[in-house]
Amino acid sequence: MNRCGLIIVLLSALFALRAFSEEPPKQAGNTQKGMRECATCHPAEAKPQAFTSMAHALESASQSGILKSHELLTFKDGNYSYRIERHGEESSYSVSNGQETVQAQIEWAFGLGKAGQTYVFRKDGNFYESRVSFYNEIDGLDFTIGARNKQPSNIMEAAGRLMSEGDKASCFGCHATNAREGHQFALDKLVPGVQCERCHGATEGHLAGIKQADKNTGSMKHLGAMSTEEMSNFCGQCHRTWEEIASGPKLGILNVRFQPYRLTESKCYDSEDSRISCTACHDPHREVDAITKDYDSKCQACHAASKPTARACRVAQTNCVSCHMPRIEIPGSHHQFTDHRIRIVKVNAPYPE
Ligand code: HEC
Ligand code: HEC
Ligand code: HEC
Ligand code: HEC
Ligand code: HEC
Ligand code: HEC
Ligand code: HEC
Repeated sequence: MNRCGLIIVLLSALFALRAFSEEPPKQAGNTQKGMRECATCHPAEAKPQAFTSMAHALESASQSGILKSHELLTFKDGNYSYRIERHGEESSYSVSNGQETVQAQIEWAFGLGKAGQTYVFRKDGNFYESRVSFYNEIDGLDFTIGARNKQPSNIMEAAGRLMSEGDKASCFGCHATNAREGHQFALDKLVPGVQCERCHGATEGHLAGIKQADKNTGSMKHLGAMSTEEMSNFCGQCHRTWEEIASGPKLGILNVRFQPYRLTESKCYDSEDSRISCTACHDPHREVDAITKDYDSKCQACHAASKPTARACRVAQTNCVSCHMPRIEIPGSHHQFTDHRIRIVKVNAPYPE
């Protein structure tokens, strides 16, 4: 095992089986605008979109499937004991060191929880990010990523990290829709999750224009017209852009989460070739396809003997991503991310940053 204790796992048959173990989000029937208005005319996008992780990237505590299905979650760190308890529609979060206790209602659940779910609560008018998070793989609590190596100096710090105005605007800005007015956090306007308008922009004009049969005010931007590079930056608003990662501090293995960066670093990447765009492999209106074989045709669009954009493989003709897009675990995340730096993986080779 090389530095950071990173685990590279090349899944073969098991990888394909994952498809069957994944269920759609528990509470799919959201009442967002997306479902009510857009679905009448755009059912192909709106119906499956409601079942995506992105649409549920933020939920109120009362709606969170994980909180509903876990009556009691506990965790211990030295003197500090953590409890998350369900009472009806609410979940209370408490942290105690024997002498002092901090208790608050959880307001928000961040992340659908395929990897993990982090909680946000309010105390004396301030927002805090919980110091412990739920992890699907262990079906329980562990440190929130980033909190593991920080020793709290008081009970409030043990409970969570105080969120600045900037934190609120950015966290809710990526996990919700209409969470910002300018750069300001706008709690009253916020719609949880990444909904139609978060990607497509304001829709009032579109709806009004269609009613009046006015083509000009009614038209929406055609996102499908973006180049591969533009699409990467578009998804990169939240999944982080190549530039953000390349110009920031070295992250090592942590950068595996940032697909636009990893993909751009791959030899397959071409900023003008739509066959390697995010949307060549992913439909943002559908949950990610976990069937490995389904990606073969995407690779073969360039790597096939008959279409000589790039060489074909001498080793195998199917399940390409199981070998060339390895799954990599970020320490403490209890989750394996798919490395979008498509490459030949050599045994014991260090992680290519
Ligand atoms: C009454 C029917 C109707 C409703 C309701 C409606 N649309 Fe549309 N939409 C259309 C029609 C027709 C077009 C194609 C004409 C055009 O592009 O102006 C269109 C085009 C679009 C496009 C451009 C597609 C492309 O890439 O070319 C987007 C995006 C879109 N709608 C999103 C939405 C969203 C989001 C909602 C919900 C807020 C919505 N629409 C509600 C009828 C509707
Ligand atoms: C407004 C922010 C935002 C934008 C823009 C965005 N995403 Fe996401 N995306 C998220 C968040 C947040 C999650 C995590 C959802 C979760 O599991 O809670 C996510 C998750 C995903 C997933 C994983 C779903 C799963 O099953 O775990 C895929 C695939 C994805 N996004 C693709 C895209 C693509 C492709 C684009 C561009 C067309 C895009 N995203 C644009 C915020 C965004
Ligand atoms: C720049 C946009 C951005 C910001 C800011 C952001 N997130 Fe995320 N978050 C994402 C995206 C994209 C994903 C999905 C990919 C991944 O897991 O890295 C994600 C994933 C997650 C997950 C794991 C979800 C799963 O797949 O199970 C959690 C939990 C989470 N975020 C919590 C938070 C919290 C809490 C904050 C604020 C303290 C925050 N995020 C800030 C974009 C963002
Ligand atoms: C995560 C971002 C994201 C979200 C959320 C999202 N879309 Fe899209 N949508 C896109 C992108 C990107 C495209 C262009 C797709 C492509 O190029 O294949 C698109 C394309 C479309 C199109 C045009 C399809 C075509 O065939 O040209 C329609 C209509 C549409 N979206 C409607 C919706 C509706 C309705 C919702 C909400 C229920 C929604 N979208 C949510 C990113 C998003
Ligand atoms: C050549 C195909 C391909 C392209 C292009 C691609 N992806 Fe993926 N992506 C995959 C595969 C394969 C998976 C793993 C699916 C599974 O088994 O769950 C994946 C998974 C993901 C996930 C889920 C988290 C994870 O690590 O498993 C996110 C988020 C994501 N991709 C975002 C993006 C974004 C953003 C882009 C554009 C910069 C992009 N992808 C381009 C093939 C691709
Ligand atoms: C847009 C076209 C395109 C797509 C789509 C594409 N590739 Fe590539 N790929 C290339 C090019 C060009 C090269 C570099 C020239 C060569 O090796 O033939 C390359 C190189 C590679 C290499 C050698 C990398 C190295 O480290 O030497 C592998 C392995 C590979 N691709 C696998 C894949 C797999 C697997 C997929 C699907 C997940 C894929 N490619 C999708 C164009 C593409
Ligand atoms: C069982 C694992 C495995 C699978 C599955 C697999 N490959 Fe490979 N591939 C390899 C290995 C190992 C090499 C390096 C072989 C060598 O160096 O001779 C390689 C080499 C390559 C190369 C570089 C070719 C060259 O001549 O340098 C490309 C491109 C490639 N694979 C694409 C693909 C595509 C596309 C698929 C799916 C159709 C695929 N691979 C399926 C293991 C795999």
